[in-house]
Order: sequence, then C-alpha cells, then structure tokens
Amino acid sequence: MAKASASFVCQSCGAVHSKWAGKCDACGGWNTLTEEAPPPPLGTTAMKRQKGRAFALEDLKTEDVEPARRISGINEFDRVCGGGMVPGCALLVGGDPGVGKSTIILQALAAFARGGGKAIYISGEESMAQVRSRANRMSLSDAPVALGSATCVEDIMATLEKGETPGMVCIDSIQTLWTGALEAAPGTIAQVRTSSLDLVRYAKASGACLVLVGHVTKDGQIAGPKAVEHLVDAVLYFEGERGHQFRILRAVKNRFGPTDEIGVFEMTGKGLAEVANPSALFLGDRNSAAPGTAVFAGIEGTRPLLVEVQALVAQPGYGTPRRAVVGWDNGRLAMILAVLDSRGGVGVSAQDVYLNVAGGLKVGEPAADLASAAALVSSFAGIPLPPDTVFFGEISLTGDIRPAPQAELRLKEAVKLGFSTAVVPRDTKCDVAGLTLKPVKDVGDLIAVASSGAAR
Ligand code: TYD
Ligand code: MG
Repeated sequence: MAKASASFVCQSCGAVHSKWAGKCDACGGWNTLTEEAPPPPLGTTAMKRQKGRAFALEDLKTEDVEPARRISGINEFDRVCGGGMVPGCALLVGGDPGVGKSTIILQALAAFARGGGKAIYISGEESMAQVRSRANRMSLSDAPVALGSATCVEDIMATLEKGETPGMVCIDSIQTLWTGALEAAPGTIAQVRTSSLDLVRYAKASGACLVLVGHVTKDGQIAGPKAVEHLVDAVLYFEGERGHQFRILRAVKNRFGPTDEIGVFEMTGKGLAEVANPSALFLGDRNSAAPGTAVFAGIEGTRPLLVEVQALVAQPGYGTPRRAVVGWDNGRLAMILAVLDSRGGVGVSAQDVYLNVAGGLKVGEPAADLASAAALVSSFAGIPLPPDTVFFGEISLTGDIRPAPQAELRLKEAVKLGFSTAVVPRDTKCDVAGLTLKPVKDVGDLIAVASSGAAR
C-alpha cells in the first residue's frame, strides 16, 4: 500500500484529493483545495480499547429515553428546537453574515440565564467589550451570562470543565475555532471538524446544550458543511432577505423534533422581537386591488401561515423571456407556466414573468402552486383577484389540482384573518364556519375563477 502523504482537502465539500487542482472534482468548486496533513490510520491511536456492552431498548428507564427539555424562554427558538433543547444536544445555527445569529443566540442565552440556568457565551469574533455593548443595546446587560473570548478549543474546554457544568453554551463561530493538535490554519475544514467534534463530545458527556454558530457561504452552504452537519443533532438556518426586517429560524435537521418548523422574528433597534402571529404581519400592508396578487394559505411546520404571492407578467424585451423568482422555486415556476400554457391555453410562456413571495419568506410547499397560478393568470388578464380569497393546492403536470394536507388548519387561519372564500382542491372536506369553499378540479376551473376577478 502506498505511504500516506499530505492530501488536498476541498474546503467546501470535504472531498480528499491526492493532487492539487484548481477545481474540486466532487463539488465543482474552484480554488477550494488546501493541503492538509493526513489523519493517523485507524487503529494506531494510543487510545485503549474498551469492551462495549449492549443494552436492551426496553430496559432503559423513561427518564433516559425522554429527558426533560431545557427551555430557553424565547418561544420561537424553543419551538424550532422541537419544544426546548434536549440536555447534551448540539445545535448548529447557520446563516449569512449579518443576518442576526449572534443577536438571537445572545438573547436566548440571556433568557436562559434569567430563568436560573448557567449560560456561557464564547465569542471568537468579537471582544468582550463589544459583546457587552451589544447586550447593553438590547437591554440584556443585567442577565447573568458568563462571557468569554477565545478561539483555541483546548482553552475553551479548560474553561468549560472548570466549575459547575453549564446548562447552555454557545460558541460563535465555528469558523474561528482551532486546535493545537492540527497544523492546518483556523477556518479550514479539518480545524472546523476536529474542533467541533471535541465540543460535541464534551456536550454529550457533560449534558450541556451546545450551540455552534456557523457562517454560510455565498452558495448557501455552511463552510465546512457536511462535516459539521452530521456531527450535530440539529441544524437551524437563520434566514432573512436584506432590506426586510423579518428573520426566519428554520430547522433543516433535527434528531429531537420536526424539521419543517419555523420561528419568525422581526429585527428591531433593540434586537430580535418574536412574532406571535406571522400571518397578520406578512399580509400587513397588502394592496389587494392590484392585479397579480394572491394569498396562499400555507403551513410551516405545525403552524398555518398566510402569505401573499405577487406575479407580474409583462411583454418581453429581446430574445429569451426573462424569469425572476424570489421566495419560490424556479423549476416550480417553469412547470406552472408550462401547465397554464399547454393545459389552460394562457399564453404566458413567451412573456417575461416575475414572481415574489412578499415579506422575504421562502415557500417550499407544493400547495403554493394554486396561489402562484392564480396570481399569474390575474396579472396576465389584468384583473385583480377577489380580495377576501385564499388559495392552496398542488398542480400536477396533467393540469389537475391535487389535494393538500392539513386543509382545516389552513382554512381556520384564513377565517381568523378575515377571509371569506377559499379556492381549494376538489375533494377538500371541511366545514369551517364563515368560509365559502370554491372547489376547483383542474387549471381550467382555476382560470375561470381567476379571470372572472373581483366581480364574483
Ligand atoms: P449579528 O447578530 O451580529 O449578525 P451575525 O452574527 O449573523 O453576523 O447582527 C448584525 C445585524 O443586525 C447588523 O446588521 C445590525 C442588526 N441589528 C439590529 O438591527 N438591531 C439590533 O439590536 C442588533 C443587535 C443588531
Ligand atoms: Mg456574529
């Protein structure tokens, strides 16, 4: 077997190459390979092997299986974690620089400390004075959070192991961590992975809840991504459009709870404020008299959420028609346009099409098809949709409207916000008082409803 020599590791996907190259074969990233010393071969470490013992599932005590969750006190954060943090869990909070990760985590730590827990915030990016001044601005300076400024994992572990085990620890951010055990530079995938693994091990052994903050690269991946994502129990993304004050915390992986849960926050001058009724906020200043806007009755996690979908169909300029989508999937839009064109005879394919989900929310549900199609038809026809109507349902390639789950929850939320009509897939059964259902079976029905407009 060839002797192990230095290898070249892609800093984006973690693939190992034997030679340097300008482009990573695995992920296609340019200039991402960095030379790293090889890890010691398996079985050569000085660790003593110990005999393991298997347990029967039924023998475990209930408290081992379902330990009491640790509540931070920020409801939206706790819900995204699956109803509080499980002792010994490791969370990764990712997001673009400046989106508000340090802010939300500091608020969660402060709330946890005020509730009587021991909270530690270790920042590798800001000095203690900067953290304190931020806490001051958010009126959190009286919270008994212990602060530290360190980047070396050995120092951090020494601090954590001193005294009583903390209930919640945050490391901000993993890209600044380094361990003396490796020669690689801080921020490289090897450093991020090894340092995070040490901290995760500490959390599992001690029962402290560990929150790791990580920056996301331009293309939406946490730098050193897969390597850290599989080490932790939950990955939460903090998203928000620049220029919008809404911020959304979304669970994309969670070993202890649902993964489609979101928490909605508003960035204010004094930190992030929880938004208890996001639908009211997202629909706040809508202009329902304009053609091309439809309200989608969606579900995010366990909560119904009404959002406005806006479409603009315009005469094309030169050449290929333009398509621009914010908050929805590009491929999905192309599909809906094709269906409207070939099954419904609405000639949108040759037009410029713009689609936007208001408020900076990203909608991933297929049930948003119907609202998007209604907005597109309304813009194309130049007729506003009835203002008191919500839409939901999936459109298939045959042009049929397919049912969507949790219809009752969506409809109840619509009634609560003052809507009186819902355009729904044909077989939707629900008797919510005060709401008229308009069942549609295919895009033809939808076009009839949408192009008859507000007069109906
Ligand atoms: P920050 O938490 O530092 O972002 P991250 O840790 O994700 O890089 O948030 C920085 C942004 O938040 C900055 O652009 C200013 C804004 N902000 C407010 O608007 N109000 C506030 O009270 C705070 C603390 C930050
Ligand atoms: Mg920060």
